[in-house]
Amino acid sequence: FEGTPLAGKHVLVTAGPTHEPIDPVRYIANRSSGKQGFAIAAAAAAAGARVTLVAGPVTLATPPGVTRVDVQTAREMADAVRESLPADVAVMTAAVADWRAADMRDQKMKKRSSAPPALRLEENPDILATLGTSDRRPALLIGFAAETEDVVEHAKAKRERKRADWIVANDVSGGVGQSVMGGADNRVHLVMQDGVEDWPEMPKEEVAMKLVERIAVEMETTNGV
Ligand code: C5P
Repeated sequence: FEGTPLAGKHVLVTAGPTHEPIDPVRYIANRSSGKQGFAIAAAAAAAGARVTLVAGPVTLATPPGVTRVDVQTAREMADAVRESLPADVAVMTAAVADWRAADMRDQKMKKRSSAPPALRLEENPDILATLGTSDRRPALLIGFAAETEDVVEHAKAKRERKRADWIVANDVSGGVGQSVMGGADNRVHLVMQDGVEDWPEMPKEEVAMKLVERIAVEMETTNGV
């Protein structure tokens, strides 16, 4: 970056999956690696921002200059996000589990000769949507949308439903093990109120840099500088 365009700004990033316990040894999870979110946190810090990174269970190193808060579950992530406010910008890249086990068992479930146990699920809080209507809503609120079909259309609807300013939409189709999730590259569409930009496929670090550049321009404009 030229200089430190995000100096004085607090950027909050969520990243990674969440793990929702079923019993002390089992959990529900997804294939998110956290790479894209960590790259965004790193780029924002390099641009001079104060960065809080709320991370689900991932095996990535904390980027230099970033304050990291580790969480396991969606509810812990929601609490950590709330405690990190206020923020000027929030980038919600986490692949938050939509559901958690409705009754988490205190003891490891035993295999029985009878039928397998039923898993009852209940809905997790939507952290992005909650921020969207919060009285402490960040000035610039950015969500991600991982879709396997009609990527941009779903992202436009999501932008409005969750009251986000931008949605970064990515196509995660491609089958188990070959998808963007966990991979090094990403191909995204930046969905804004007044239009959609299709970005070419590039490494997640470059997506992060380009997004942070856009954030810096937007913050300058809204500051009236
Ligand atoms: O609805 P969907 O899960 O596809 O929305 C994705 C966006 O919403 C991402 O930015 C994700 O971080 C955020 N999200 C959230 N809390 C949830 C579910 C999604 O913050 N419970």
